[in-house]
Amino acid sequence: MHFRRLSLFHRISHGLSASIERRRDILSRTFRNAAGRRVYLGLAALAAFALGSPALHAEQASQGRAAPPKSVPVLRIDAGSVTAHVSPLLYGLMTEEINHSYDGGLYAELVSNRVFNDDPKSPLHWSLVQRNGGSVSMSLDDTQPINALLTTCLRLDVNTASEKQLVGVANDGFWGVPIKPDTVYRVSFYAKTGGDFGGLLTVALESADGSKVYGSTKMQKVGGDWRNYSTELTTGSAPPVANGRLAIYAAHSGTLYLDLVSCFPPTWKDRPNGNRIDLMRKLADLHPAFLRFPGGNYLEGDTIGTRFNWKSTIHGLDQRAGHPGPWGYRSSDGLGLLEFLEWCEDLRMQPVLAVFAGYSLGHAFVPPGPGLRHFVQDALDEIEYVTGGPDTRWGAERAADGHPAPFPLTYVEVGNEDNADKSGSYDGRFAQFYDAIKAKYPGLQVIATTRVKSRTPDVYDEHFYYSAAKMEAATHRYDSYSRSGPKIFVGEWATYEGAPTPDLHAALRDAAWLTGLERNGDLVIMAAYAPLLVNVNPGARQWKTNLIGFDGLISYGSPSYHAQVMFSRHHGDVVLKSSFDGAPGFFYSVTRDTRTGAIYLKAVNTTGTPRCVRVVIAGVASVGPEGMEWLLWSAQPADTNSVDEPAKVIPVASKLQGMSPDFMRGFAPYSVTVLQLASR
Ligand code: AHR
Repeated sequence: MHFRRLSLFHRISHGLSASIERRRDILSRTFRNAAGRRVYLGLAALAAFALGSPALHAEQASQGRAAPPKSVPVLRIDAGSVTAHVSPLLYGLMTEEINHSYDGGLYAELVSNRVFNDDPKSPLHWSLVQRNGGSVSMSLDDTQPINALLTTCLRLDVNTASEKQLVGVANDGFWGVPIKPDTVYRVSFYAKTGGDFGGLLTVALESADGSKVYGSTKMQKVGGDWRNYSTELTTGSAPPVANGRLAIYAAHSGTLYLDLVSCFPPTWKDRPNGNRIDLMRKLADLHPAFLRFPGGNYLEGDTIGTRFNWKSTIHGLDQRAGHPGPWGYRSSDGLGLLEFLEWCEDLRMQPVLAVFAGYSLGHAFVPPGPGLRHFVQDALDEIEYVTGGPDTRWGAERAADGHPAPFPLTYVEVGNEDNADKSGSYDGRFAQFYDAIKAKYPGLQVIATTRVKSRTPDVYDEHFYYSAAKMEAATHRYDSYSRSGPKIFVGEWATYEGAPTPDLHAALRDAAWLTGLERNGDLVIMAAYAPLLVNVNPGARQWKTNLIGFDGLISYGSPSYHAQVMFSRHHGDVVLKSSFDGAPGFFYSVTRDTRTGAIYLKAVNTTGTPRCVRVVIAGVASVGPEGMEWLLWSAQPADTNSVDEPAKVIPVASKLQGMSPDFMRGFAPYSVTVLQLASR
């Protein structure tokens, strides 16, 4: 969020009068329509509107010029009447390996195909490199396993090389290796020589054609047995490049074997094997209360054999061979179960742990009964890995992996979208998991992914990918929903419009939808937009509309992301009774923080017409004159953000003055507004 005061005055003083006039026109026309006469506005309000802050109420309240005409719709708030409590967990994250969310995304590893498993026939993403001639060849080699899991390595046969004729291999990363100035990179790899290899290896971060070296260092001498070598490499001051490469050079002939080649930039909280800083910051700004992982389809896999098998994602990286994901590419499993949990820890989120429930996307399923026991036990082991003390079998494994303290866990989800299992086996499968989980962990809340009859789940997970029109029509879905059954987790939702990320048009519906969830916070206890992340490089994306976009260097939040930041950061703990006698295209929710008294009014105007609304607040001793507003607005609903224009549609924060229990407010066309009012 930014205060744009300076920019506002800057823009006024540089004569954006045309824009102001245009908007004054729009606004005053509307006021004539609504009120039958023209309302005059001060320069500050006009300028504010022109620049995205229609603070009409303040102008009007302080100048007393606009007596509320009868035709203006009234939003009545009864602050003395609480209709629901807002779930403290309402706003959270859903994540899975899709769109290169992790590999080539959040997981900060820069080397692609680091264990040479991506293709059994060729070392994808690796190429031979030379400086000033020399001769070298490479091949995949299955005769020198590091262990039972890392069985394929890269064999380099160096025929001719010298200090002046370096030869080697380079990795082109995920759509290039991004290289930033004055940055320390941690490079590591397993290596061994064929016995006939001497000399030192040089590692370098360089341009795609090798003509420019951004940082380079020599490694210690490699021996004849597999060992892990690591070094730090610091770049100079050259401007950032998105499409660099990591090169490993030899200056001596002979045979060299390489495996698990890795290069990390600085990570969030300096975690080894950690996450990309800019993306974590964006996620932190969402103030998420929970993380649902590891999917989504990624949990289920295309086949049972390629499900998210959590036991293959723990321990050191040399214990992780990776696996084929359901979104058309292989996962390194570098972001494994412990990393998910540490991600939760870093952002103070509750894990919502989805366990594999015996059904995969290819419709293979394990019927309930003895055959399913193995998977139920796997889920119990997983829960123990998360929550068990170091005196438990799997708690001890977690401690050995570097995290002695157990993680908190309240919610376990059994499967994902099991309504796709047309065999009808979910009811029985769910019962088997439910009984086993409740027997061992009675305090856990168990989430079902579709309706079941055999047991009563604590929570149902419901998913919605809707067009803008359908999402807008669905905003009242939960207003009259039965409160007698399980709570609702909206585990995936999105207005499915805009690519690779939603535009303002979609964001307005997303915000409208959220007003409905917030209003029904007693029923809808958690909600998460999906998918969360998308690498916007060509070929990286599988899903059309995603919340946060990025390439190797830049990330941006979509307008919907910004609306969600506004919502998740500004809400109370109770929903106030309210009514509105206005027109379609206007959505709102009103909550209050019972500790501070602050009232949060969220309003979404999905139409191209400014809305004037009279807000009347009863049931409070007073409404203080000062408040805050956050406004997300743009002239065209098609306006959006991108790596080229990451901040085209972003919220503006402004201080409010002249607030009272009865005020007039203009809501800009295509806008999302959060007002924070001080009440006692
Ligand atoms: O969010 C993308 C996919 O949509 C998820 O993997 C799946 O659960 C849903 O169908």
